[in-house]
Amino acid sequence: MVNIRLDFPTARGVTYLNSASISLMPRPAVRKMREFDQIVAGGGTIGFDEKAETEALEGARQEGAHLLGARTDEVAVLSSATDGICSFALSLELKKGANVVSTDADFPSVIYPWMRIGRQGALDVRLARNRNGVINESELAELVDDRTSVISISHVEYGTGQRFDLRWLSELAHSHGAYLIVDATQSAGLMPIDVHRDGIDALVAGGYKGLLGPFGAAIFYLRRELVDELTPPLAGWRSAPVPYDLDSEKLSFASGAKKFEYSTMSYSSAIGLAESIRYLRKVGCRNITEHVRTLTKQFIDLIKSNNRLPSTAILTPEEEQRQSSIVSLRFEGRKQSQVASELTGRRIIVSQRFNGVRFSFHIYNTPRDLLRAVRVLQLVLKKYD
Ligand SMILES: Cc1ncc(COP(=O)(O)O)c(C=O)c1O
Repeated sequence: MVNIRLDFPTARGVTYLNSASISLMPRPAVRKMREFDQIVAGGGTIGFDEKAETEALEGARQEGAHLLGARTDEVAVLSSATDGICSFALSLELKKGANVVSTDADFPSVIYPWMRIGRQGALDVRLARNRNGVINESELAELVDDRTSVISISHVEYGTGQRFDLRWLSELAHSHGAYLIVDATQSAGLMPIDVHRDGIDALVAGGYKGLLGPFGAAIFYLRRELVDELTPPLAGWRSAPVPYDLDSEKLSFASGAKKFEYSTMSYSSAIGLAESIRYLRKVGCRNITEHVRTLTKQFIDLIKSNNRLPSTAILTPEEEQRQSSIVSLRFEGRKQSQVASELTGRRIIVSQRFNGVRFSFHIYNTPRDLLRAVRVLQLVLKKYD
């Protein structure tokens, strides 16, 4: 049984509206990691033998697959979302004159790997331009043509919480013969994703945000046909079908997406992440989505209806189908970083992003958190008048 109040003690003491930065972790996951760390630190191979090490990522792989509607052999566990995007990008053989489409509001890791490849050959990285943080979908579509090899984009943008329709994105990519790679770091665990239904070719999700996990572990999904077609760009002892064969004379890759795993990593993080996803599933993914979308809507309504918050622009899109679990506000004439740090100093934990202040919600937040945030916001803004 889960008990959200007890499992996130910090959320009782402060108003934690920063899951889009680092989410709080549920106690059962923290406990699992601690137990594992103690076993390995105290006993080395006595408690963690070669079989256990070989199987250490199984739990996260299975939980990740379950959450995303994927098969387990389509999922690898890597150290970070960035790791996954780089691996995917470097495993493609991009044609001369190809382009990759993304947005200028996206997280750097979604774009930089393509820019890095572009330095070696002619790869045109095309970015749809945001207006006040928001991307116009039709302008994004206009950038895609028959030379587009990849659309690389976040499901939910980290700055404003703008959410894209995954089915629309995959149809757009596929109608031009391109692949779709989705960074679901800001949506996995919060918004519904079904990789097969949504036609996604590759997806990454870092552990420490929507998934309620730790740093150091991330989920990497690759569509089954691509698992067979692509050769991982990085190879090491864990790439092999049986890692502890340690056959240095012959490189052969494991079958399934786990061939993209290549070395030791923070096994503790992977074990923690598996437990966090298990926790999310116990709460129920539909319940979580409904909860955070309701908080998002309520917070926007509270801001809109409050006449003591003058000159406050809501950067998050108005349409509910483009919203997620993030609300970003811009306080005209104020230094956004100062507003964010004053809120944080008064125990309303938020981040400054995209020349605005970002409020992000998860299962441990309640409508009372929203009221508290608005009350303190009024105080902070009043100071400047
Ligand atoms: C959309 C998105 N992708 C990736 C990352 C970073 O992921 P990682 O640290 O796992 O590489 C972030 C962090 O803020 C993010 O918002």
